[in-house]
Amino acid sequence: MNALINDIEIIKAKTTKINDVDFDNLTFGKILTDHMLECDFKDGKWQAPKVVPYQPITLDPSAKIFHYGQSVFEGMKAYKDANDTVWLFRPLDNFKRLNISSKRLAIPELPEDYFMNGLKALLKVDSDWIPRNEGSSLYIRPFVFASGKGFHASPADEYKFIIACAPSGSYFSGKVKVLIEEKYSRSANGGVGFAKAGGNYAGQFYPTQLAIEKGYQQVIWTDDNTHEYIEEAGAMNIFIRINDTLITGPTSDRILDGITRKSIIELAQSKGIPVEVRKITVSEVVEAAKNGSLKEMFGAGTAAVVSPISGFGYKNEDYDIPEMEDTYASFLKKHITDIQTNKSEDPFGWRY
Ligand code: COI
Repeated sequence: MNALINDIEIIKAKTTKINDVDFDNLTFGKILTDHMLECDFKDGKWQAPKVVPYQPITLDPSAKIFHYGQSVFEGMKAYKDANDTVWLFRPLDNFKRLNISSKRLAIPELPEDYFMNGLKALLKVDSDWIPRNEGSSLYIRPFVFASGKGFHASPADEYKFIIACAPSGSYFSGKVKVLIEEKYSRSANGGVGFAKAGGNYAGQFYPTQLAIEKGYQQVIWTDDNTHEYIEEAGAMNIFIRINDTLITGPTSDRILDGITRKSIIELAQSKGIPVEVRKITVSEVVEAAKNGSLKEMFGAGTAAVVSPISGFGYKNEDYDIPEMEDTYASFLKKHITDIQTNKSEDPFGWRY
């Protein structure tokens, strides 16, 4: 009989890879832990999740994930504090958003206890993998995809839910220079932009490659209709500081309801920073860059937390954002990571 944690069956790996890991020099998302959570949807229902050794999975070549991209994912992090207590950040929000994404992709929604108990059991089994080093964490990737067979372009009858974890360092090193996109779009009204659908990210790769060839690291996504409104930064939400006001676009069909985004809005407001959630045009940002009122731009997401932008390109012109001390980006990043890692009070009740 295998062990049970929170009613989840645990099948332990026979060996561990942990001794090969250099926890002082972690990159992002490349080294996977010893175990994963696995749960199948078949016969019309989600079967009991299990923690199993991390291993390749076998799929039929006609599995619908390969042909129709029926897949959604989440990004989360676990942290260990000085007393070795393990903390998550707003995990129920990730669970809810996974189901919001699933619904849009006609994937069956998961029960909350499968997600939460499964995650907790996995983290208990792999707790030695949760880094303690400043700036590092265990990046957690829950995902659901169509494993059911057949070329018919319709929802699959079988799915897999997996949670895999990777001890990780920072996502970006240093500031990034971005290109404001004038041709390609990441999302459209009525589309899947608000969902964490795998294809949303695949669709970004080619325009991002073109931007990299021109000397930028990321694309700033604009609305698909006019390309006049700023929407997201690469795989993250975007914040723009004009004078002392922090501005971000409202969530919509096209913009992901980022957990870091909404935490930053609440945190900034609680610290007395003026925040405006409103549409912002490219011309407003270009004008602000020209007259010196553009103080900061940064991306916000789970992986990078806050990723400062050093400047942007638009219509063959480059605009630098002058360096300054005491940025909102570093202030907000510090406050969020202190809450996440149990280094400060958590007046919002975000830590779990
Ligand atoms: C995250 O910030 O967790 C994301 O989803 C970005 C990811 C594509 C690395």
